[in-house]
Amino acid sequence: MRPSGPGAVGSPAWRELEQLAVIHRTTHLRDLFAADPDRFAKFSAEYDGLLLDYSRQRVDDKVLAGLLELVRTVDLTSWIEQLMSGKPVNNTEQHAALHTALRDPDGDPVSENGCDVKPAIRDVLATMRALIDKLHSGRLLGAGKKPIRHVVNIGIGGSDLGVRMTTTALAAYHVKNVEVHFVANVDGSELSDLRAKLDPAEVLFVVCSKSFTTPETMANARAAREWLFDKSGKRDAVQNNFVGISANGAAMSDFGIAPDMQLPMWDWVGGRYSIWSAAGFSLACAIGMDEFEAMLRGGCDMDLHFQSKPFENNLPVLLGLLGVWNINFLNAGFHAVLPYDNRMREFPRFLQQLEMESNGKSVDRNGNGVDYQTGTVVFGEAGNNAQHSFNQMLHQGTGRFSVDFLAPIEASPELAQNHDMGLANCLAQATALMRGVRAEELGESGCRHDLIPHNMIPGNRPSSLIVFPQLDPYNLGRLIALYEHKVFVQSVIWGINPFDQWGVELGKRLANQVLQTLAAAGKQIDPDPSLRGILDYIARQRQ
Ligand code: F6P
Repeated sequence: MRPSGPGAVGSPAWRELEQLAVIHRTTHLRDLFAADPDRFAKFSAEYDGLLLDYSRQRVDDKVLAGLLELVRTVDLTSWIEQLMSGKPVNNTEQHAALHTALRDPDGDPVSENGCDVKPAIRDVLATMRALIDKLHSGRLLGAGKKPIRHVVNIGIGGSDLGVRMTTTALAAYHVKNVEVHFVANVDGSELSDLRAKLDPAEVLFVVCSKSFTTPETMANARAAREWLFDKSGKRDAVQNNFVGISANGAAMSDFGIAPDMQLPMWDWVGGRYSIWSAAGFSLACAIGMDEFEAMLRGGCDMDLHFQSKPFENNLPVLLGLLGVWNINFLNAGFHAVLPYDNRMREFPRFLQQLEMESNGKSVDRNGNGVDYQTGTVVFGEAGNNAQHSFNQMLHQGTGRFSVDFLAPIEASPELAQNHDMGLANCLAQATALMRGVRAEELGESGCRHDLIPHNMIPGNRPSSLIVFPQLDPYNLGRLIALYEHKVFVQSVIWGINPFDQWGVELGKRLANQVLQTLAAAGKQIDPDPSLRGILDYIARQRQ
């Protein structure tokens, strides 16, 4: 039987997995370990010091074989080839998704619509390097000829989360004389906090927006421009103190950004996949171009691994398949991401957009509705903090979860002292989720009889451990690309397009209408009764 849609759902391999899932829903991980002490060796895969240990996932040989059959069913090899060679894999927008080309600027030509994209990529990297060399050497001057000492990235979603996450994660690599800040939310609080402590003449405002029309970003950019005008008294200060990063050159010019301060983005790079492009400029300001290019190399090496490694040892493929098993067969609708390095605290938020904006779809590539779950709810926090907040629910709650633990093996020297404590906690959490604790064990350990039910922990909660040598630009690049490709693998199995995001448009249109109504003090009332009710209430309160 062929799958009913463009993915693997409904295929013979899928049906086979449904049968296996019936057994696995009642099989405990403790029993799987007892039956096969070799699980660690069998269910782990390594790529040059990056290890995926999935021995605590609720799989066995048969399940793994069935999952691997899914990627054969959809001919994943050909999808990878289409992705990387610039085919319009974003079919609803008729665009390629060439984030892989961005991290391989000197590699073979890759064409999009018959045009090699690599020369433009190299040009942008060279322009970034020239600007950043000037910045780091104190030669980039703002209004009143003051050297720029601060960079404020103004953007939201894919124009914020990636650059914010990587800049936070790579704090150990920051240059000393430039500080990078972020402004995303439209409420203005991030910008007003900065107003209190910075001189705008010393700030390089980086307005990052692929469309250059996103209302939140444009409102913040205009507020920053006004702040600069007010302080410098000069309308043309924008020419020295603003960089624009966008696919919309005309809008950057209209805003007043000087041509040599404009860096292009392209239609063939999605916002949430854009950290490798000029959208990573603020990160490069923080760590320098050499380190930025080390991150690109990490991403590129993961691409080569994804492209060439047999699927049974291919990290993104395995990660994607384990997700499908948990989501579609074991009904685990929530996925926690717990990095055991505080500098990776923004990583779960970055993955939320990557996974949920990409695969949160309910029609397949052909526009037909799907009757299976696509995507999962991703949440997370720096792992050690999570232990003291929501992990209680992971251990004893009634919901079904899966977890990814991430941990560097070595800490940077200044953080080495407590590193083993963090690592020990990480491994202990994975073990506790797997084993749980049984009534008889509690009894033997002297637990008070009436407290035994409260102390029992079911275990059998699936998790993966991803350990890597250290948190540096190269390894961070590998991790980001690992998750990007994981999302792609899942999208191919589900038969959906991970590169569009039509679902966000309605909210944007409505926000605009509601804003007009609020500005007119409730006079342009929308017919929706609940919206009318709350708008009336707000108008009355304001009077
Ligand atoms: O609203 C969602 C979204 O379109 C994201 O996909 C994107 O990353 C974000 O808005 C920001 O868009 P832009 O870079 O065009 O400002």
